[in-house]
Amino acid sequence: MKIFLDTADITEIRRAAEAGLIDGVTTNPSLMAKVGATREPADLFLEICEAVDGPVSAEVVVLDAEGMIEQGHRLAKIHDNIVIKVPLTEAGLRACSALTNEGIRVNVTLCFSPTQAHLAAKAGATYISPFIGRIDDVAGDGMELVGQIRQIYDNYEIDTEILAASIRHPQHMVQALLLGADCGTLPPKVLYQLLEHPLTDKGLEGFMADWKSLGREL
Ligand code: G3P
Repeated sequence: MKIFLDTADITEIRRAAEAGLIDGVTTNPSLMAKVGATREPADLFLEICEAVDGPVSAEVVVLDAEGMIEQGHRLAKIHDNIVIKVPLTEAGLRACSALTNEGIRVNVTLCFSPTQAHLAAKAGATYISPFIGRIDDVAGDGMELVGQIRQIYDNYEIDTEILAASIRHPQHMVQALLLGADCGTLPPKVLYQLLEHPLTDKGLEGFMADWKSLGREL
């Protein structure tokens, strides 16, 4: 499964990319707002693309299809790694279809139902982003949606990749892996939670103490 980092924080992106932990990055307008308005968005997207060898989702910020296509063209010119993120609306799917026909990759975001995911695939989406955590937030089952999309895409041999988004904790990641999601995007905090285990810490402490007691240099 591909792991994407869900952030626009360049320091976190470099940290994870240099450790070889990520295959790409996803951003959205809220994540861009979090890192502040001191940078030109195009400059930040370019810096992110140069820091990671993989797809970098950059989202359009208008509601009409023509506007999305125009913004998509401008974003795609920044770097070959850019994937255009559009919302799961009729206008978003029109833009998805147009951009895909031009060879530009599209990530359709804000997916909350299996029929939405099916229509996004019809419109040629490279990635579909079901928002797991936000479904759980309203007492739904985000992982059930991932499983349903997996089955639908497998039934009809659809090659749109399932990008499990809004992952809030390691168990979401475990379930996404077991269900066969193609990609998962996670905030830096959750990425590092994935590698933590108290028995690893305890074991390492023991190894270090025993080595010290040996009194030798390596
Ligand atoms: O990639 C979409 C994701 O950032 C949404 O996450 O935690 O805001 O629901 P969240």
